[in-house]
Formats: sequence, structure tokens, C-alpha cells
Amino acid sequence: MYLKKLKIGNVELKNNILLAPMAGITDLPFRRICEKYGAGLTCTEMVSSKGLFYNDSKTNLLLNIEDEQRPVAAQIFGSDIETMGFASEYVSNIVDIVDVNMGCPAPKIVKNGDGSKLLTNLELLEKVAEAVVKKSKVPVTVKIRKGFDSSSIVAVEVAKILEKVGVSAITIHGRTRAEFYSGQADWQIIKKVKEAVKIPVIGNGDIKSKEDAKRMFEETNVDGIMIGRAAIGNPFIFEEIINYLQGKEQRIITNEEKLQIILEHIELEIKEKGENIAIKEMRKHLAYYIRGLKDASATREKINRIESKDELFECLKAYFENI
Ligand SMILES: Cc1cc2nc3c(=O)[nH]c(=O)nc-3n(C[C@H](O)[C@H](O)[C@H](O)COP(=O)(O)O)c2cc1C
Repeated sequence: MYLKKLKIGNVELKNNILLAPMAGITDLPFRRICEKYGAGLTCTEMVSSKGLFYNDSKTNLLLNIEDEQRPVAAQIFGSDIETMGFASEYVSNIVDIVDVNMGCPAPKIVKNGDGSKLLTNLELLEKVAEAVVKKSKVPVTVKIRKGFDSSSIVAVEVAKILEKVGVSAITIHGRTRAEFYSGQADWQIIKKVKEAVKIPVIGNGDIKSKEDAKRMFEETNVDGIMIGRAAIGNPFIFEEIINYLQGKEQRIITNEEKLQIILEHIELEIKEKGENIAIKEMRKHLAYYIRGLKDASATREKINRIESKDELFECLKAYFENI
């Protein structure tokens, strides 16, 4: 049975199908929607350790977990030992798991030596992980990539270092930093990482369907899986995977249910960020929610011009009535 409860340190998750942290996407409203459809763990967008250290209010907002399912994780990034230690202690007072980003490929992150850049300096990587584990009051997990580029595939070595310093679980995305999101994620490296350590390993990269989810378990023997892009506009994927892995019949998600969830998502977003920002933030989500449906592109253009909740609700209700 691939679907199971997953224990990360002393924290037990209700299942091993996790939502990936995604900057600009996995804010509190979206996480709550994914939790509703069964995600076993969600994580905040990545939070700057320096931002926390200097008490930046925007950074703090990213750590809002009001009314959220527990356990919940927060992801921190940085490469300065002192600030990462500080951030670790700080977020461990709020959430149940501290996750460390050692995979982000974005130039502005890599330029500062953070995210995936740590994969090029394993001595520093070890010190950062050690500091985070030492300061955290809750289990620490780390999310890595395969390596920085094809000439430095370090995931197995890194996994062993992380296990040694007391990290409780590792998530691996089967791409190098140089690949960003191109090509196909390498699941063989995920299998190798799983074989190399005793702590739980979570496989990530290119799980786009319930069938992919099962195949990831079959091919890599991982303890859990993490879904990123396939959940955007499709939080239902968690329920689909959970049912599929249990051999249960699939429940059809009707257009009424989809509309209901979209409206709920918008309401949550407004509560979190205020109408003005929320309506703009929802545009990218809505584009994904309606992708592949009738008249999606014309509707998307219309939605992108709407500035108020009432108008947006009206537009979406009319759209879903007509498809
Ligand atoms: C828009 C976007 C934002 C992301 N932000 C983060 C992040 O903040 N932290 C992180 O560890 N990974 C981040 N990722 C990477 C995802 O967590 C995941 O590793 C990657 O998308 C591969 O999984 P997938 O094929 O299921 O999408 C981001 C990915 C996307 C598409």
C-alpha cells in the first residue's frame, strides 16, 4: 500500500501526499483549499531568513497559518548560518515542521548563495543544516535538487550529510538547477537518494496525474510524494490520487463544485489580502482553474480586466452556467 501516514520526526502526517511549496502560489488560501481535498502536508511559500531577522512585515505575513490544518510546514531560505539559525527558531515557534530550501534556481536567490547554490558548497550546506536543526524546536526537513548542474550531481552525498546532522526528512526534485523546470525530472536519482538514507524521502517532479503518482512510488520506493504545478487550478488532484491509490472509485468533480471552490478560494484570498490585491492575485489561479474548458482564453482576458469581487463572482457564475 503506497498511501500511508508519514512520520517526520515526532510529527505524524495524515497521509504521504504533500503539496509543494510554490512562491506566489501556496499562500494560506490555496493551502487551505488543498488541505480540504486531502493534502497530507502543506508548506508556506519560501520565507527569507534575512527578512525574518530584520523583522520585515511582508515576510511575517507569509507565515500566517490561521485556521489551517495541522501539522503545517514553513520553508525558510538563506545561507548565512546566524540568520538561518534565527529563522529556524522563529518559525519553529509557529509551525510544526521547518523546511529548508536548498533547491531554488531563481537567479536573484542563487546570486546571494542561497537555494540551489548551497549544492555547490557542501561544507556550508552542512553548517546551515546543522544550525537550523540545532535551533529548531520541531523536526527539520530539507528540499533539494539533483545538483547544481550536470557536472555536479550531489543529491546522494547531500542526503547523507543532511541525515547525519539530524534532518528528519528530505524532499528531492529530480532536476538540476541548470535545468530549472525544463525536460523531464529524473526519478532514478530519487530512487538512489531513497536507497542511501534511512530518514523518509519524498519524491518530487512531474507528477501530473494519479497514474504518475503511483508510478513515482513504484519506480522509486519513496515514502511520500510532493505535487507542485499539477495542483495549481486543480487542488482536486489530492483526492484523486488518494482514491486511486486505495483502489476507490473516482468521484466526478462537477462544474458546480469547481465553481464553489473557486468562489471559496476568492473569499479566502480577500480575507487574507483585501479585495484589491486578492482579485489581482486570483487571476493566475483562475487561468488554471478554467484551463481546457470552453472559451477559456476569452474568459481569462475578461477576468484579467475585472477589479471587484462582485463583478468577478458574476462573471464566473455566468461562465460556469454556460459550459
Ligand atoms: C511558481 C513556482 C514557485 C515555486 N516556489 C518554490 C518555493 O518557494 N520553494 C521550493 O522549494 N520550491 C519551489 N518551487 C518548486 C516546486 O516546489 C517543485 O519542486 C517543482 O515545481 C517540481 O514539482 P512539480 O513538477 O510537481 O511542479 C516552485 C515552483 C513553481 C512552479
